[in-house]
Amino acid sequence: MLKPAFKALACALSLSAATLVQAADPIVIKFSHVVAEQTPKGQGALLFKKLAEERLPGRVKVEVYPNSSLFGDGKEMEALLLGDVQLIAPSLAKFEQYTKQVQIFDLPFLFDDMAAVDRFQRSPEGQALLKSMEDKGITGLAYWHNGLKQLSANKPLREPKDARGLKFRVQASAVLEEQFKAVRANPRKMSFAEVYQGLQTGVVNGAENPYSNIYSQKMHEVQKYITESNHGLLDYMLITNTKFWSGLPDDVRSELSKIVEEVTAEVNKQADDLNQGDKQRILAAGTTEIITLTPEQRAAWREAMRPVWKKFEGEIGADLIKAAEAANQAM
Ligand code: LMR
Repeated sequence: MLKPAFKALACALSLSAATLVQAADPIVIKFSHVVAEQTPKGQGALLFKKLAEERLPGRVKVEVYPNSSLFGDGKEMEALLLGDVQLIAPSLAKFEQYTKQVQIFDLPFLFDDMAAVDRFQRSPEGQALLKSMEDKGITGLAYWHNGLKQLSANKPLREPKDARGLKFRVQASAVLEEQFKAVRANPRKMSFAEVYQGLQTGVVNGAENPYSNIYSQKMHEVQKYITESNHGLLDYMLITNTKFWSGLPDDVRSELSKIVEEVTAEVNKQADDLNQGDKQRILAAGTTEIITLTPEQRAAWREAMRPVWKKFEGEIGADLIKAAEAANQAM
């Protein structure tokens, strides 16, 4: 048994230790992204903040920076590696400098619908891609949906030849460049924050985006036509700095991992509704005609763009492409 004087000391010590723990600064997690708050990614970032701060009060503080307000495309990955931000969720088109395999998600007409995307992302092959950049210091935590992309332009695009000679904004992706070259259009890489102005000033004539990005950036105001092509995917990988994540206290990391799972389920459940709602809002705005392709017209786009797969098969891997194609068949 401890003597009274020792007891008092032990008591005082544990009190001050408790005060120290309580007074310790919370771990600050900066989450930077390039889209608006009312999009699937924007909502996911806010939900992550809410749950993390509710469940780890005083231990974690999450700061969300939307709309390229902290770092834009091209800078956010570097910032993550330097430790200037701790969470980002770039589109899967923006990883080619770090892993060639993730380029698979850009292949045009690879997935029939979002259910197929889900199946592939959940498959062992899809899950392995989350770990494919650990040697570069990047850990993938989850896939977040936005959705399928639509083509937009100031002229109606019904057949591949309608795109000939037009300048299309693309994300920083060699696959997407080739996709537009396949229909003899001119791709131009441009960061997301510059797209609206690029379309407005005519630096580019068209773009490809899910409805949520078109509506939240007001691109419909500067594009007379949207072709509902669903020709490709715009999804995200939520990533963190490997050293930061593994350096977190075990209990914090495990709680944050649970939260990531919950937020992922919610984002992936809501994304389609958000996109469909924004499609209706674009129609209601009356600025833009939405063109529905006939099955034959869509098949012509598919045929024109499909050769792109062969060009990247070596870098991506034929087996991985097969696994993704297999995901089009429901089990
Ligand atoms: C784009 O650059 O078009 C997208 O990656 C933006 C985004 O994050 O949805």
